Amino acid sequence: MTKADFEFIRNLAYDSTGIVLPERKKHMVYSRLSRRLRQLNLKDFTQYCSYVANTSDERINFINALTTNLTAFFREEHHFKYLEQAIVPEWKNGNKKRLRIWSSACSTGEEPYSIAMTLEKHFSSPQWDLKILATDLDTNVLQTASTGRYSKESITNLPAHYAEKYMNSTSASQHVEICSNIKKMIHFKQLNLLENWPMSGPFDVIFCRNVLIYFDNETKQKIIAKFRKMLSPQGYLFIGHSETLMNISEEFKLIGQTIYRPLGYSDIKINDNINENLLLKC
Ligand SMILES: C[S@@+](CC[C@H](N)C(=O)[O-])C[C@H]1O[C@@H](n2cnc3c(N)ncnc32)[C@H](O)[C@@H]1O
Repeated sequence: MTKADFEFIRNLAYDSTGIVLPERKKHMVYSRLSRRLRQLNLKDFTQYCSYVANTSDERINFINALTTNLTAFFREEHHFKYLEQAIVPEWKNGNKKRLRIWSSACSTGEEPYSIAMTLEKHFSSPQWDLKILATDLDTNVLQTASTGRYSKESITNLPAHYAEKYMNSTSASQHVEICSNIKKMIHFKQLNLLENWPMSGPFDVIFCRNVLIYFDNETKQKIIAKFRKMLSPQGYLFIGHSETLMNISEEFKLIGQTIYRPLGYSDIKINDNINENLLLKC
């Protein structure tokens, strides 16, 4: 991969996804795109760069190869505890029946399925209108997500009661499948956070976890400003463990571990039973 090839690749990745590829990621880029070169029978990266520049259909394979999709059921478990122990009681005590949640970089689906498993028992009666939108840029991960089929290995950290209640499996199979009442709570769609968002909102909770790290500050600022507009004034924004809104937005207030609310929201009613460690006194 020549210097010019890498320069072309990092510019195209940035322009089409917002993902920043510093020099230290050259090896990763090399190994991920080498597979495409082999599949297309191309002899070098210069040929591949010219192919992707001139073949619009290749753009999605290029993007899918460069995204990092690491995820897990109940990853950063404190968010799901907060959802159940603080937000669920608030919703149950309020008047709203329409609840909307957006998992905005959902990868292979473990995040939105974890949200659905947390909420199903509280909102399954017909008086509630709860929907989860789950989006990602990468079409391959969305394919996996919508099948809801996972290896038994991938659910080893899942609390046993969730696996028993919400997953189907046979002892002979190496896989489990998410049951239909959880699947039907979620709508999977492809969406690039950098492009126009076709939804009107408002959302009550937005999960945007472990994707901001791939963007520069300018992109983060644009996306967070759009989240603010999409979020209900009483809503919540959850970001990933190594992410922060410091120097990115002044429109949010940190109220828990990587949990934000729009500035000026009305008082949070804290459930007496909530684990104090989940809350940040501020
Ligand atoms: C590391 S995964 C995080 C998955 C999940 N949110 C979690 O925390 O476990 C990052 C995801 O962000 C997606 N992504 C990267 N750039 C994106 C963009 N511009 N728009 C939407 N999704 C994007 C990737 O495809 C990938 O699936």
